[in-house]
Amino acid sequence: MLSLLILHGPNLNLLGQREPGIYGSATLDSITQQLEQAARSLQVKLSSLQSNHEGALVDAVHAALGQHQGILINAGAYTHTSIALRDAIAAVAIPTVEVHLSNLYRRESFRHHSYIAPVAIGQISGFGADSYRLGLEALVHYLKHVEG
Ligand code: DQA
Repeated sequence: MLSLLILHGPNLNLLGQREPGIYGSATLDSITQQLEQAARSLQVKLSSLQSNHEGALVDAVHAALGQHQGILINAGAYTHTSIALRDAIAAVAIPTVEVHLSNLYRRESFRHHSYIAPVAIGQISGFGADSYRLGLEALVHYLKHVEG
């Protein structure tokens, strides 16, 4: 069975209470539950990690090597700043889908650039909590039917 790593970056632990007008009212726990439900019907296994620390996310990407066949990541603000995270994803070469709750391109210009996008299969941005489910479906489809 395919095993996938779900990574959440900084401040996403505050989902539900954090700027709900932008990020919605779903908590990280409820997003994880939705993903677990989707994973059951897709017949894949998930491991999730949220961290506010760039190095912990880099470590998690390294540790995915040999353990997980795909990565779904919302790197939060590190999307726009972290060459280290981008290099880690490039280094392990594990197929990665980038997701964002908000539509980055309708927001401040500093959010328009992603360091992750060039090393990701693709990006889903703007569908709220559904971005994660859509990203998971896209990743599983890629692993089963495009790469596999
Ligand atoms: C975000 C968008 C980022 O710009 C922001 O820093 C976040 C959340 C999103 O999911 O919309 O923390 O990744």
